[in-house]
Amino acid sequence: MIPQDRIPRHVAIIMDGNGRWARKRGLPRYYGHKVGVESVREAIRTAIDFGIEYLTLYAFSRENWKRPGKEVEMIMSIFRQVLTREVAKLHREGVKIVVMGRLQDLSSDLRKRVDEAMELTKANSRLNLYLAISYGGRTEIMDAAKKMARLAAEGKLRLDELNEEDFRNFLYHPELPDPDLLIRTSGELRVSNFLLWQIAYTELYVTETLWPDFRREEFVKALEDYASRERRFGGVKAS
Ligand code: IPE
Ligand code: IPE
Ligand code: MG
Repeated sequence: MIPQDRIPRHVAIIMDGNGRWARKRGLPRYYGHKVGVESVREAIRTAIDFGIEYLTLYAFSRENWKRPGKEVEMIMSIFRQVLTREVAKLHREGVKIVVMGRLQDLSSDLRKRVDEAMELTKANSRLNLYLAISYGGRTEIMDAAKKMARLAAEGKLRLDELNEEDFRNFLYHPELPDPDLLIRTSGELRVSNFLLWQIAYTELYVTETLWPDFRREEFVKALEDYASRERRFGGVKAS
């Protein structure tokens, strides 16, 4: 049993390793992405069960557009299917869905489903599910800087008085608290352009488990590990 005050409020996950999972089985990469959807369902379920308030899933980076067209198409078609088939159920469970990233990069058809899902679930509060699609941390920071520069040029913003909290208000979702825990599956020790501003003091957890194999038990292991950590935020150990 993990005490409730040791449960992270916001968990972010870099869902990596779908391709390797498929390759190990002699299957096309696509199957890894497909089976990975089941891990997404389980992560949402587990987050709800443990009273996690925010779950952010890195589903597709801006850099992932560089992949072969066929793979990108497959991934987009999975997003479309999930957003069509699963939203009603998530809505019934009280999940608020927010898609975060360069939404203008998405096809109009997918964009429509994204907008519908966000509109339908916007008043829910049991779990805030942020799906990062066509997301890049540097782009998010650049976009924020551009918005600020525009306002400053119009004389509507005094740059000298800005602090870090003011800057946050120009990010895509200022209401999203910084992640307490960032999980990355499949062993890579890097952040791959995810939530760069927000992870300044986030606890990191990397597991060798590939995303399609990352199920409830693995998630609970990460939560237990987090619960045993001491966070300092640059201060000294509380005595
Ligand atoms: C993560 O799995 C899913 C996406 C990035 C869309 P990968 O497709 O990156 O799988 P690996 O890392 O090649 O195994
Ligand atoms: C990060 O995984 C992006 C997502 C999980 C969506 P990648 O597989 O794209 O990252 P790299 O290329 O290994 O850094
Ligand atoms: Mg990868």
